[in-house]
Amino acid sequence: MRSQDDVYFAKVKNDDIVSLKDMKITDVSNLKEETRPTLYRGLKYWGKKPHNIWRDIIKKNTVEGDVVYDPFAGTAITFFESIKIGRKPVVADINPLTLFLVKLYSIDYDIDKIKQIALNIIAKAKTTDLYLNSFVTTCSRCHKKTDIYNYRVFDTIPEEHSYKCKFCGATITEKAQYANCKSNGFNLWKPILDMGQLSSINTSFIKKIGGKNITKLWTDRNIELLSFLFAEIKKIKTKEKDALMFAFLQMVHLTTKMCALRSKKSNRPLSTSWGRPAFLALNSYMEQNPIIQFERAVFGKNGVIECLLSRKTYLPQYRFSTDLKDLNNVDGVVLLKDSKTVVKGFKPQLVITDPPYGSTIQYGELSEVWNIWLQKYDPIYKVNLDKEIIINNKHSIESYIKNMTKVLLNCKLLLYPDGKIIMTFNSNSDRDWEALDLAIKQSDLKVLQKIYQKNCRSSEANVGAIDGIGISDFYLSIGNDIDDGVLYAA
Ligand SMILES: C[S@@+](CC[C@H](N)C(=O)[O-])C[C@H]1O[C@@H](n2cnc3c(N)ncnc32)[C@H](O)[C@@H]1O
Repeated sequence: MRSQDDVYFAKVKNDDIVSLKDMKITDVSNLKEETRPTLYRGLKYWGKKPHNIWRDIIKKNTVEGDVVYDPFAGTAITFFESIKIGRKPVVADINPLTLFLVKLYSIDYDIDKIKQIALNIIAKAKTTDLYLNSFVTTCSRCHKKTDIYNYRVFDTIPEEHSYKCKFCGATITEKAQYANCKSNGFNLWKPILDMGQLSSINTSFIKKIGGKNITKLWTDRNIELLSFLFAEIKKIKTKEKDALMFAFLQMVHLTTKMCALRSKKSNRPLSTSWGRPAFLALNSYMEQNPIIQFERAVFGKNGVIECLLSRKTYLPQYRFSTDLKDLNNVDGVVLLKDSKTVVKGFKPQLVITDPPYGSTIQYGELSEVWNIWLQKYDPIYKVNLDKEIIINNKHSIESYIKNMTKVLLNCKLLLYPDGKIIMTFNSNSDRDWEALDLAIKQSDLKVLQKIYQKNCRSSEANVGAIDGIGISDFYLSIGNDIDDGVLYAA
């Protein structure tokens, strides 16, 4: 029997569409991504684009002062790269992380103040009974009290812990002494979200993770300590508050139960990652110390302080607004908005974007790990997942095509007749490519050029591409039927 998808597939195949898959590819594998400046490393997100190539494309297709529009802005690379070269970005995303980043980097902070506030919060957290009972041990080499960095948890039991002794410097993994996961019962706000509502979560996940509420992504003691940190950040009265919230967002996912253990052979007992873009209920995982993670997120190599210093050298100071009416008076606009509704108020010379890749990555749902905190931090960061353009159990492929068509038509309406839409697309599902194909066709637009750029981002190996090559990007130049669509002339 044919599944729904097969039937749909057949429908597409019968339709006489120009197949993106079969389209001639201009190979520009000589385009090399440069090392990402630290300002782009702070926040985890999937499918971050190569900033220098993005900038090159903007530069080649616009002149100074031109307006550049990105309806799916993600971590706001279009915003920052446009600012860097004197173009005026208008970017939109329904994910509030975009607005948070643009606001964060628009401000000049007092770095010493950030350090001082962070040190005070960390010191306070470290004197709580919960911390002392959960994350402090006696170094087996020098016999002084030191912080446990993490537990290796097997079937909910923290069997081993690791630390780097702050006195003698020894890195030790040994049988865990504090095997309980008891919470402290601090009377603090904890996030509430029924994970049963999320399409990427099934009943076996909920059973394995221990319950429906999103707090179950963390152990009890970690959720208590995170709530403690969050409450302390919320109390900050100065502008440095945003910088400390950024540190919180940098690490909160790394303290969930979704962090896989590295093999013992790798000899990296102090590190883990949430590498795969999916919710994971693992049999064994690393439970990381949230306070140590927070410390790293402030003072570490890619921590907030380094991100802010990098912003200072990489970008000019900019002013932004969240209202298109201000476009003439600011350097850029960021909209926390459904792009289907962005239809007037500006005239971009170029649209450059990295749209949702069909079903490949569930951006909205995965981002709840951050956004449940962010929207409580400040209600301006509201989340509305219903508006997301995506394919999953709740959003059909038909709705994806319809909605992508709507956004493309809006872009067409906004652009000058010879304006171009340049987009990347990553998916190893034929279905996703065909959905995009249809949306382009239904918008009465043409793919003028397709280029392939093999990139060097090992971290993006899970973002699939049409030919199964993970680490690559396809760029499409799309426009009206005017065949001067040179996306990239080296
Ligand atoms: C592939 S990601 C872009 C990632 C980006 N390249 C980066 O560097 O971070 C697609 C983005 O589209 C956003 N999105 C999905 N539906 C949307 C909608 N209706 N309106 C605006 N943004 C939407 C998602 O939140 C996600 O950030």
